[in-house]
Amino acid sequence: MVRFYILSILLGLTGVASAQAGGGLQQVQDFGPNSSGARMFVYKPNNLPEKPAIVVGIHYCSGTAQKYYNGSPYKGLADQKRFIVIYPESPYSGGCWDVSSKATLTRDGGANSNSIANMVKYTIKEFKADPSKVFVVGESSGGMMTNVLASTYPDLFAAAIVYSGVPAGCFFTNTVNGWNNSCSSGQVHATPERWAQWVFDAYPGYHGSRPRMQIYHGSADTTLASPNYMETIKQWSGVFGYDSSKPESQKANTPQSGYTTSTYGDHLIGVYAQNVGHGVPVHGVEDVKFFGL
Ligand SMILES: *[C@@H]1O[C@H](CO)[C@@H](O)[C@H](O)[C@H]1NC(C)=O
Ligand SMILES: *[C@@H]1O[C@H](CO)[C@@H](O)[C@H](O)[C@H]1NC(C)=O
Repeated sequence: MVRFYILSILLGLTGVASAQAGGGLQQVQDFGPNSSGARMFVYKPNNLPEKPAIVVGIHYCSGTAQKYYNGSPYKGLADQKRFIVIYPESPYSGGCWDVSSKATLTRDGGANSNSIANMVKYTIKEFKADPSKVFVVGESSGGMMTNVLASTYPDLFAAAIVYSGVPAGCFFTNTVNGWNNSCSSGQVHATPERWAQWVFDAYPGYHGSRPRMQIYHGSADTTLASPNYMETIKQWSGVFGYDSSKPESQKANTPQSGYTTSTYGDHLIGVYAQNVGHGVPVHGVEDVKFFGL
């Protein structure tokens, strides 16, 4: 036991080498340019296949990589399905992500979104992961960051799942790690075209593929108020050319009682959870299904 403890400490200190050894959550010190100071942690199960998939799991405000590793199902799912999990960690004291600055809403802008993209690029290279199987999921502030990453790095991600977030650009304050009250209280409304513009402006001139999106939100959310659900649906409908007012199909009580799943097109699914408050519980098994893992 004591020996195991000492070993863990030693592994923890050797950074990259320990991450390659597998087992436990490991910090990676040198993953490339990181002017925003975000930290990188990785979980790499044993017996990874050739060219493993990557899931990036992004924590909520007051979260840490360790808390998200302990409190979300992705570690266990990684053991089962054999993929790598990257757990980025916010450098700010409140533990929220910068989703409000011009820099983070811009590809290669040097802010948090840029640091996380560099973690992904490092992992693809260092662990010979499959660049076509990179996925991102996040809760609350991490959900907002998921929308920001899908906007700034559409070429990196095959699919993204947003739990209880807001549309990319909605939190804009023109300051780093700001809090936008009008957005959080659900008072920012825009057309699908205007919302889509935030996405297009994040990576101007890009015409390649974009991640499939799944958006979860609770109807009783008072932290990031529930209108943010439809605003996010409008954003991605605008991007993909879907009709946000008319889903292609709708299933009541899916994936569980009180949740309605709406499909707007092959790149956009919304899941609205009746009477669920902030932080819709993670549906890990559904998540890996959506990712195709
Ligand atoms: C990124 O910044 C964090 C916090 O300052 C630091 O712990 C980490 O080593 C940095 N990583 C790189 C690659 O610069
Ligand atoms: C909040 O964001 C909206 C855009 O979503 C913007 O119009 C508004 O000015 C922002 N509020 C603050 C205080 O920056």
